[in-house]
Amino acid sequence: MGRRRTAVLISGRGSNLQALLDATRAPDHPAEIVRVISNRAGAFGLERAAQAGVATSVVAHRDYPDRPSFERALQERLLADGVELVCLAGFMRVLTPYFVDAWRDRLINIHPSLLPAFPGLDTHARALAAGVRFTGCTVHFVRTEVDLGPIIVQAAVPVLEGDDPERLAARVLEAEHRCYPIGLRLVAGGQARIEGERVVIAGGAHPPGITIHPDL
Ligand code: GRF
Repeated sequence: MGRRRTAVLISGRGSNLQALLDATRAPDHPAEIVRVISNRAGAFGLERAAQAGVATSVVAHRDYPDRPSFERALQERLLADGVELVCLAGFMRVLTPYFVDAWRDRLINIHPSLLPAFPGLDTHARALAAGVRFTGCTVHFVRTEVDLGPIIVQAAVPVLEGDDPERLAARVLEAEHRCYPIGLRLVAGGQARIEGERVVIAGGAHPPGITIHPDL
């Protein structure tokens, strides 16, 4: 099987995109990133993609009258590139059922919490307010409900004394950079199978969970 043609959708900084670009440079990685699309022209992630020699496009939501026409433009770009898998990496637009269903089981996202806890925005502030001892990140298949869908990989990250949302976000982000390439590898390699809205990893292994220790 050839490498799966993969697109990454971003809106900003693109540090998770960078982790995916770095990981997929390995010739044995089952995914190849063929296109990076941003809905914002100034997104730094576009520079990261260009540095890596990956084609980029800006599909600016503001150029379209409504979500369906914006998503049709995304879809045309993806189909023209023969894309097989789509990764959302800090993509800040909610996608409608039109797009999500077109990419069902081929569309993955990373979220900076241990889902189903703390979906949506301001996850780190909410985790701190709740007093949880661990938070983390989740790579999951996308469904129409925001930040829900079959879980592929999670990492647990401790909340430490004196954390504020920024400090906690930085610790979780390191975990994200480790998890997303693993999640993409499992999906592109065909090892992550969905059974009854739970992900089963081929070979009977448990889905990967990673714990990031405070001293790492
Ligand atoms: C990450 O924390 C990701 O989990 C969330 O948005 C952030 C994007 O950061 N969905 P980056 O653009 O990948 O640096």
